[in-house]
Amino acid sequence: MAKGSSFSAERYRGVRDFYPEDQFVQRFIFEHMERSCELFGYEEYGASILEPVELYRGKSSEEIVNEQMYTFTDRGGREVALRPEMTPSLARLIAAREREIPFPARWYAIANMFRYERPQRGRLREHWQLNADIVGAAGIEADAEVIALAHFIMRSMGADEHDFEIRLSDRRLLDAAYEECGIEGTLRPAATRLLDKRDKLDDFPAALAELLGAERARALEEKLERTTSSAFLEELRSELQGFDVRNVSIDTRVTRGFDYYTGMVFEVYDTSEENRRSLFGGGRYDNLLAHFGGKQIPAVGFGMGDVTARDFLDAHGLLPGYAPATELMLCVVDRSAMVHANKLAQDLRREDVTVAVNFSGKRIGDQVRQADKMNIPFVIAVGESERDSGRYTVKNLESGAEITLPADRIAEHLFSSLG
Ligand code: HAM
Repeated sequence: MAKGSSFSAERYRGVRDFYPEDQFVQRFIFEHMERSCELFGYEEYGASILEPVELYRGKSSEEIVNEQMYTFTDRGGREVALRPEMTPSLARLIAAREREIPFPARWYAIANMFRYERPQRGRLREHWQLNADIVGAAGIEADAEVIALAHFIMRSMGADEHDFEIRLSDRRLLDAAYEECGIEGTLRPAATRLLDKRDKLDDFPAALAELLGAERARALEEKLERTTSSAFLEELRSELQGFDVRNVSIDTRVTRGFDYYTGMVFEVYDTSEENRRSLFGGGRYDNLLAHFGGKQIPAVGFGMGDVTARDFLDAHGLLPGYAPATELMLCVVDRSAMVHANKLAQDLRREDVTVAVNFSGKRIGDQVRQADKMNIPFVIAVGESERDSGRYTVKNLESGAEITLPADRIAEHLFSSLG
């Protein structure tokens, strides 16, 4: 690097840095997602962040493929994308082992996605997303189960049923409306995307009229206005009651943007005044797997993003307070005690204590202050007298309490104090 030049410490727009306090929240969210999925019998899978662009063409959503995908050409001239969503990758993985996988498969993954969007509250260019899907089950039980799982995750993060609401609809209602209004298949994906974005558009009726012609646009709006529920949605709602999921409403304005949905669709909404918005959603997609040349395999699931989850927790006062994983700092009184401090640290680690050794060489008071600043709950000063006597004074930095113990009693003391 030339003298005097320096790099900017700024990150690329819309992507994420996670300082330890941020990563702590991220891990809280992920752990609730993982645990909930596993409590429901879902198996974890993963895939590369790189996929051939072809995977998304004609299968995902035109808006994502044409306007939001990060793509590049590799050294062999192939078009590659950073995944904008997980569902096509999941379909690819399943299709490749269609004969071996026992169905129904309950699979989940937590992975980062990239979309070239205008960064704003709740929408960034990089986000992490839980995907939980059931593949190979066509019945309403699977629709109900994935929604119950979404509900379970929200509850496990501390939300109560008044904090959020699940809104249900069905793509088949939309298809029936298109049919009745004489809207041909080629126009339907664009119409569905407009409906999905209606609240964000300045003039939705005008945009719809431009796409469908004024008369058909009006007919469609009227038809949808009159469509308030269906026997299937009522049945789904009562299935959900069996899971103790009651904060459900039927809202035929929910459409979701992707082309692959074929049945039930849902969105989870925040009910708080300051954050009244869609948090995440999903639905049934029974024809996507057939695109891979194999059988038609029904599937249903959802994607839950970390950005909106974090905003939700914040709006409801549910964010966990930060504490580092480190339980103990060994403060080293002088250089000659270093070897002994490291040996003690190793013994404690084998007993499952998380311990950092302070090798700064600073005065002991400064070392203790640093531990306190870092929110580490306990310190032990290690010097010659500790080395010679084999007894150590464990100090609780919050209460100020001290206790002197032999090395083999330290772990037990920490665990009982930490609860
Ligand atoms: P999606 O609605 O596009 O669906 O994304 C799912 C969730 O990911 C969103 O509701 C939101 O929580 C989060 N998300 C999406 N884009 C962004 C963004 N730019 N910034 C922050 N968060 C974002 C899907 O992707 C479907 N593949 C989900 C699915 C799985 N359907 C069935 N199975």
